[in-house]
Amino acid sequence: MDCSGRSEPKLPGTCWGRQIARGAALTAGMLAVAGPVGAGSVEEGRKVANEHCSRCHVVGEANALGGIGSTPSFRMLATAFKDWPSRFESFYARRPHPAFLSIEGRGRLREDLPPNAHPVTLPARAIDDLVALAEEIRARAAPKGAGKAK
Ligand code: HEC
Repeated sequence: MDCSGRSEPKLPGTCWGRQIARGAALTAGMLAVAGPVGAGSVEEGRKVANEHCSRCHVVGEANALGGIGSTPSFRMLATAFKDWPSRFESFYARRPHPAFLSIEGRGRLREDLPPNAHPVTLPARAIDDLVALAEEIRARAAPKGAGKAK
């Protein structure tokens, strides 16, 4: 499939919809296996990210050549912005996510937006896990200087 090669649209729909539907089906099983965690777990975060974020974002080595061209990689997000923790803590409220993703117990934040992709609901603890993952990515990616961040 050629979704990753398309660079222009931020809200294209069809490619995402297909990929997200597939990811959601896979994830139903994986989340059931994952037990409850307290503070963020890098491993859980990676699972969530691989299932729910990697079709748009480059998350790490697992999909280094994947994602959608116009979507920032997690490494870029975790290294290029000083406020990366709050970006990851509130990603679900930031565009484009509210249109297709919600956090359990918090509903779809933008009921006025039609889902442009198969909607996904994540458990609240996924946020901590994703922040932990971002922290890990940042720690691994950022050398002493800031030179490597692109
Ligand atoms: C359907 C595609 C898509 C999926 C799936 C997706 N994102 Fe994003 N995300 C985007 C795009 C596009 C942007 C850039 C938005 C912009 O620059 O306006 C973005 C931006 C972000 C940002 C930066 C937000 C900001 O305001 O700076 C974070 C953090 C983020 N995504 C986290 C995630 C996480 C975590 C997941 C998985 C749970 C995820 N995204 C799933 C498309 C997606």
